[in-house]
Amino acid sequence: MSEIVLALEALRCGYGQATVIHGVSLKIMRGEAVALLGKNGMGKSTLLKGIMGFLPRQAGSIAFGGDTLVAGQPHTLAARGIAYAPQEKAVFQDLSVEDNLRIAVSDPRRFRIGLERIAGYFPFIPQRLRQKAGTLSGGEQKMMILGRALMAQLRLLLIDEITEGLQPSVIERISGVLQAERNASSIAMLIVEQNVKFALSTADRFAVLERGELGEHGPTNMPDAYARIIAELGV
Ligand SMILES: Nc1ncnc2c1ncn2[C@@H]1O[C@H](COP(=O)(O)OP(=O)(O)OP(=O)(O)O)[C@@H](O)[C@H]1O
Ligand SMILES: [Mg+2]
Repeated sequence: MSEIVLALEALRCGYGQATVIHGVSLKIMRGEAVALLGKNGMGKSTLLKGIMGFLPRQAGSIAFGGDTLVAGQPHTLAARGIAYAPQEKAVFQDLSVEDNLRIAVSDPRRFRIGLERIAGYFPFIPQRLRQKAGTLSGGEQKMMILGRALMAQLRLLLIDEITEGLQPSVIERISGVLQAERNASSIAMLIVEQNVKFALSTADRFAVLERGELGEHGPTNMPDAYARIIAELGV
């Protein structure tokens, strides 16, 4: 039986008086990955911040697992199994890798279990716990951010342009990690991307965001998905 994990209904949000997201409706089911594509400045990151409650909701609703979210309470989302890997590097540069990870999971037993979970995906992480996070390479920092998000048992993962600046082999590895996590624990994902190939190979459905509204969308396995997206993005 399918279960709705995230339901957006005519969501509007933005910055101050300015509206960036003009009424987005979207449902994501348990175990489903949706890729959100779009040109620079179309509102992809704004939509994720709106879902997380970092921005005030101007209209519409956000429901998680059937419960309508109370806007502006991002700290309650972790307890609901929602994690967010932001586009900007969310790394405390002067803290150790371990302290960066403890921000996600502070309970010592859960931390150990979480670390074991992600060690299989990113073996360098347990080996570098004492290293200052700011001295990891750019790609390693990105993997640490994703690893941090995956330490807790999740129901929904929001990822913002994880592949930006990464070499192809690391991108492939991340795609493998996301697919393994979905198979193992049926996490739902909303994956914001510019890398169309990564998005199509990782997600079940895609949607293109155009000036804060959803445009072209469909299953990623439809034969002309790539061509449609490229046409809509004009690249
Ligand atoms: N803090 C802010 N205050 C005011 N406007 C903002 C703020 N952050 C973003 N915007 C504006 O909101 C619009 C959408 O930005 P957003 O970052 O959501 O785009 P994006 O689709 O994620 O782009 P990119 O692919 O470049 O990351 C842009 O016009 C941007 O200038
Ligand atoms: Mg963005």
